[in-house]
Amino acid sequence: MTDKNTTRENEYVEIVEYYDNLLTSGYYDFESLAKNLSNLLGARRKVLDIGIGSGLLSEQMLTLADYEIVGVDFSSKMLEIAQKRLANTNVKLICEDITKFETDVKFEAAISTGGAISATKEDDEIRLYSHITEAGQNEQLLAKLNSQLSENGLLALAIQGPHSNYRKKI
Ligand SMILES: C[S@@+](CC[C@H](N)C(=O)[O-])C[C@H]1O[C@@H](n2cnc3c(N)ncnc32)[C@H](O)[C@@H]1O
Repeated sequence: MTDKNTTRENEYVEIVEYYDNLLTSGYYDFESLAKNLSNLLGARRKVLDIGIGSGLLSEQMLTLADYEIVGVDFSSKMLEIAQKRLANTNVKLICEDITKFETDVKFEAAISTGGAISATKEDDEIRLYSHITEAGQNEQLLAKLNSQLSENGLLALAIQGPHSNYRKKI
Protein backbone atom coordinates (compact mmCIF):
# COMPACT_ATOMS: atom_id res chain seq x y z
CA MET A 1 0.00 0.00 0.00
CA THR A 2 1.29 3.46 -0.88
CA ASP A 3 0.69 5.98 1.92
CA LYS A 4 0.77 9.69 1.06
CA ASN A 5 -1.55 10.64 3.90
CA THR A 6 0.15 13.20 6.04
CA THR A 7 -2.20 15.95 7.06
CA ARG A 8 -5.84 14.99 7.02
CA GLU A 9 -8.03 13.94 9.95
CA ASN A 10 -11.02 11.84 8.97
CA GLU A 11 -13.87 10.01 10.58
CA TYR A 12 -13.28 6.52 9.21
CA VAL A 13 -11.22 5.33 12.17
CA GLU A 14 -13.37 3.96 15.03
CA ILE A 15 -16.15 2.89 12.63
CA VAL A 16 -13.70 0.53 10.94
CA GLU A 17 -14.24 -2.12 13.62
CA TYR A 18 -17.86 -2.61 12.66
CA TYR A 19 -17.99 -1.09 9.16
CA ASP A 20 -18.04 -4.40 7.27
CA ASN A 21 -20.67 -5.92 9.57
CA LEU A 22 -22.85 -2.88 9.12
CA LEU A 23 -22.47 -2.67 5.36
CA THR A 24 -22.96 -6.36 4.71
CA SER A 25 -25.97 -6.70 7.01
CA GLY A 26 -28.26 -5.49 4.25
CA TYR A 27 -27.25 -1.85 4.03
CA TYR A 28 -25.68 -2.27 0.58
CA ASP A 29 -25.95 -5.18 -1.83
CA PHE A 30 -22.44 -5.20 -3.25
CA GLU A 31 -23.11 -8.20 -5.49
CA SER A 32 -25.88 -6.41 -7.39
CA LEU A 33 -23.99 -3.14 -7.35
CA ALA A 34 -21.00 -4.83 -8.95
CA LYS A 35 -23.17 -6.56 -11.58
CA ASN A 36 -24.87 -3.29 -12.54
CA LEU A 37 -21.57 -1.50 -12.62
CA SER A 38 -19.97 -4.21 -14.70
CA ASN A 39 -22.78 -3.94 -17.27
CA LEU A 40 -22.34 -0.17 -17.34
CA LEU A 41 -18.57 -0.43 -17.77
CA GLY A 42 -18.74 -2.85 -20.70
CA ALA A 43 -15.20 -3.56 -21.92
CA ARG A 44 -13.60 -0.94 -19.68
CA ARG A 45 -11.06 -2.54 -17.33
CA LYS A 46 -8.79 0.17 -15.90
CA VAL A 47 -10.74 1.40 -12.90
CA LEU A 48 -10.23 3.99 -10.17
CA ASP A 49 -12.23 3.11 -7.04
CA ILE A 50 -12.76 6.45 -5.27
CA GLY A 51 -12.88 5.98 -1.50
CA ILE A 52 -12.41 2.21 -1.85
CA GLY A 53 -12.82 1.78 1.91
CA SER A 54 -12.53 -1.85 3.00
CA GLY A 55 -12.69 -3.07 -0.62
CA LEU A 56 -16.17 -4.61 -0.59
CA LEU A 57 -17.11 -3.34 -4.06
CA SER A 58 -13.79 -4.10 -5.71
CA GLU A 59 -13.89 -7.62 -4.28
CA GLN A 60 -17.21 -8.24 -6.03
CA MET A 61 -16.07 -6.54 -9.25
CA LEU A 62 -13.15 -8.95 -9.47
CA THR A 63 -15.50 -11.93 -9.44
CA LEU A 64 -16.91 -10.64 -12.73
CA ALA A 65 -13.87 -9.69 -14.81
CA ASP A 66 -10.13 -9.01 -14.68
CA TYR A 67 -10.38 -5.39 -13.67
CA GLU A 68 -7.18 -3.44 -13.09
CA ILE A 69 -8.21 -1.49 -10.03
CA VAL A 70 -6.50 1.36 -8.24
CA GLY A 71 -8.22 2.12 -4.95
CA VAL A 72 -7.69 5.48 -3.26
CA ASP A 73 -8.78 6.21 0.29
CA PHE A 74 -7.46 8.55 2.95
CA SER A 75 -8.24 6.18 5.83
CA SER A 76 -5.31 3.87 6.46
CA LYS A 77 -7.51 1.87 8.85
CA MET A 78 -10.01 1.13 6.08
CA LEU A 79 -7.19 0.25 3.72
CA GLU A 80 -5.73 -2.23 6.21
CA ILE A 81 -8.96 -4.21 5.87
CA ALA A 82 -8.99 -3.76 2.08
CA GLN A 83 -5.42 -5.03 1.95
CA LYS A 84 -6.39 -8.24 3.72
CA ARG A 85 -9.57 -8.66 1.68
CA LEU A 86 -7.80 -8.07 -1.64
CA ALA A 87 -4.53 -9.77 -0.70
CA ASN A 88 -4.48 -12.20 -3.59
CA THR A 89 -5.44 -9.70 -6.25
CA ASN A 90 -3.53 -7.05 -8.17
CA VAL A 91 -5.59 -4.17 -6.79
CA LYS A 92 -3.30 -1.25 -6.02
CA LEU A 93 -4.19 0.60 -2.82
CA ILE A 94 -3.16 4.19 -2.27
CA CYS A 95 -3.67 6.01 1.01
CA GLU A 96 -4.33 9.57 -0.08
CA ASP A 97 -7.00 12.23 -0.22
CA ILE A 98 -8.68 11.82 -3.61
CA THR A 99 -8.63 15.59 -4.08
CA LYS A 100 -4.81 15.44 -4.02
CA PHE A 101 -4.36 12.19 -5.91
CA GLU A 102 -2.31 12.70 -9.08
CA THR A 103 -1.45 10.06 -11.64
CA ASP A 104 -0.25 9.65 -15.21
CA VAL A 105 -2.57 6.66 -15.63
CA LYS A 106 -5.69 7.26 -17.67
CA PHE A 107 -8.55 5.29 -16.19
CA GLU A 108 -11.38 3.92 -18.29
CA ALA A 109 -13.73 4.35 -15.37
CA ALA A 110 -13.83 6.06 -11.99
CA ILE A 111 -16.35 4.48 -9.65
CA SER A 112 -17.66 5.30 -6.20
CA THR A 113 -20.08 3.66 -3.80
CA GLY A 114 -20.30 6.25 -1.08
CA GLY A 115 -16.61 7.13 -1.42
CA ALA A 116 -15.59 10.80 -1.29
CA ILE A 117 -18.29 11.67 -3.82
CA SER A 118 -21.43 9.77 -4.72
CA ALA A 119 -25.10 10.41 -5.44
CA THR A 120 -28.39 10.32 -3.58
CA LYS A 121 -31.98 10.05 -4.71
CA GLU A 122 -34.73 11.68 -2.76
CA ASP A 123 -38.19 12.55 -4.05
CA ASP A 124 -37.11 11.43 -7.53
CA GLU A 125 -34.30 13.96 -7.52
CA ILE A 126 -30.75 12.75 -7.99
CA ARG A 127 -28.07 14.88 -6.35
CA LEU A 128 -24.35 14.71 -5.94
CA TYR A 129 -23.37 14.12 -2.33
CA SER A 130 -19.91 14.52 -1.06
CA HIS A 131 -17.67 14.08 1.95
CA ILE A 132 -15.88 17.21 0.77
CA THR A 133 -17.21 20.29 2.46
CA GLU A 134 -14.97 23.07 1.21
CA ALA A 135 -16.63 25.27 -1.40
CA GLY A 136 -15.27 24.76 -4.89
CA GLN A 137 -13.40 21.55 -4.08
CA ASN A 138 -16.11 19.33 -5.51
CA GLU A 139 -16.01 21.09 -8.88
CA GLN A 140 -12.20 20.88 -8.79
CA LEU A 141 -12.38 17.17 -7.99
CA LEU A 142 -14.82 16.49 -10.82
CA ALA A 143 -12.58 18.39 -13.24
CA LYS A 144 -9.51 16.47 -12.03
CA LEU A 145 -11.28 13.11 -12.33
CA ASN A 146 -12.37 14.09 -15.82
CA SER A 147 -8.74 14.75 -16.77
CA GLN A 148 -7.75 11.34 -15.34
CA LEU A 149 -10.25 9.50 -17.52
CA SER A 150 -9.44 8.25 -21.00
CA GLU A 151 -11.57 9.16 -23.99
CA ASN A 152 -14.98 7.55 -23.45
CA GLY A 153 -14.05 7.11 -19.79
CA LEU A 154 -16.92 6.92 -17.38
CA LEU A 155 -17.55 8.38 -13.94
CA ALA A 156 -20.00 6.00 -12.26
CA LEU A 157 -21.46 7.03 -8.91
CA ALA A 158 -23.73 4.72 -6.93
CA ILE A 159 -27.09 6.30 -6.12
CA GLN A 160 -27.97 5.99 -2.46
CA GLY A 161 -31.61 5.98 -1.43
CA PRO A 162 -32.76 7.93 1.63
CA HIS A 163 -31.45 6.69 4.98
CA SER A 164 -33.95 5.24 7.40
CA ASN A 165 -33.69 4.01 10.96
CA TYR A 166 -33.62 0.29 11.50
CA ARG A 167 -32.54 -2.18 14.14
CA LYS A 168 -30.37 -5.12 13.29
CA LYS A 169 -28.17 -7.47 15.24
CA ILE A 170 -24.59 -7.10 14.09
C1 LIG B 1 -19.04 5.25 3.19
S1 LIG B 1 -17.37 4.74 2.97
C2 LIG B 1 -17.52 3.85 1.42
C3 LIG B 1 -16.41 2.86 1.22
C4 LIG B 1 -16.57 1.94 0.02
N1 LIG B 1 -16.64 2.67 -1.21
C5 LIG B 1 -17.77 1.04 0.19
O1 LIG B 1 -18.65 1.06 -0.68
O2 LIG B 1 -17.83 0.31 1.20
C6 LIG B 1 -16.55 6.23 2.48
C7 LIG B 1 -15.06 6.04 2.23
O3 LIG B 1 -14.57 7.17 1.52
C8 LIG B 1 -13.35 7.57 2.11
N2 LIG B 1 -13.18 8.99 1.81
C9 LIG B 1 -14.00 10.01 2.15
N3 LIG B 1 -13.51 11.18 1.69
C10 LIG B 1 -12.34 10.88 1.05
C11 LIG B 1 -11.37 11.67 0.37
N4 LIG B 1 -11.47 12.99 0.27
N5 LIG B 1 -10.30 11.03 -0.17
C12 LIG B 1 -10.16 9.69 -0.06
N6 LIG B 1 -11.05 8.90 0.58
C13 LIG B 1 -12.14 9.48 1.12
C14 LIG B 1 -13.50 7.24 3.59
O4 LIG B 1 -12.25 7.12 4.25
C15 LIG B 1 -14.26 5.92 3.53
O5 LIG B 1 -13.41 4.80 3.47
